[in-house]
Amino acid sequence: MAEHWFISGANRGIGHGLATLLAARGDDVGASVRSEEARERLQHDVARHRARFSIFVFDQRDEAGIRAAARELTGPLDVLVCNAGAYGPQTQSTLDLDFPGALDLFDINTLGPLRLVQAFLPLMLRADNPRIALMSSGLGSMATEGSTNIAYRAAKAALNKIAQGLAHDLKREKVTVVALNPGWVRTDMGGENADLSVEESAVGLIETIDALTLADSGRFLDYRGRDVPW
Ligand SMILES: NC(=O)c1ccc[n+]([C@@H]2O[C@H](COP(=O)([O-])OP(=O)(O)OC[C@H]3O[C@@H](n4cnc5c(N)ncnc54)[C@H](OP(=O)(O)O)[C@@H]3O)[C@@H](O)[C@H]2O)c1
Repeated sequence: MAEHWFISGANRGIGHGLATLLAARGDDVGASVRSEEARERLQHDVARHRARFSIFVFDQRDEAGIRAAARELTGPLDVLVCNAGAYGPQTQSTLDLDFPGALDLFDINTLGPLRLVQAFLPLMLRADNPRIALMSSGLGSMATEGSTNIAYRAAKAALNKIAQGLAHDLKREKVTVVALNPGWVRTDMGGENADLSVEESAVGLIETIDALTLADSGRFLDYRGRDVPW
């Protein structure tokens, strides 16, 4: 049965892969982009599918913009994928950090997904099996050593904590919350040497999210549904 999904950051990369695959299989899709031009391009990419596809323009640092989009959606919303994210400033090592750039990255990668969850939650509470997936990264895992791109790693580690907190706080409402690692994917962010195509990652992520139940809430999973150490 068709479900209603919302994917943030759907104009390129993994979000685009998720949104177009979901449209192709006939789900109802809400998607966010950041400009009218991106909206037109995405609309063109999904035009051949008969799915209901709505595109909203907002930046995930903009709480009012996110809330306005949520007000336009008619629920119930089955799945929210907080996918949009950035890699942050050029200078981001522990010993030499672009502090304003790092703060901005936290605003986007850590607080942005939480803004989405808070705005879309009322629509999710009306679904039978509501699932929230926060797009994290293996680089945010405490089990992964290395310190390159420390602001990105720290922002994703903080997002993991938010995923865990949401899973705890929404259990009574029967909302499943997970953090996801999409793998290393060939996108603008992942670069051309990455392991996976967008389609390989997106197919696995959709299978993983399809299979989620409340028993999975609070897990950190990769695109093949395997546990990732926090
Ligand atoms: N690629 C990988 O190997 C990899 C690995 C681990 C985790 N991830 C995570 O997976 C997610 C998607 O990554 P990707 O590789 O597809 O990245 P990408 O190709 O760089 O695409 C990023 C998407 O996020 C949007 N975005 C960036 N800043 C935003 C903001 N302030 N507000 C709203 N949207 C914003 C972009 O929109 P614009 O086009 O307008 O900039 C774009 O749609 C990210 O959360 C990333 O951290 C990726």
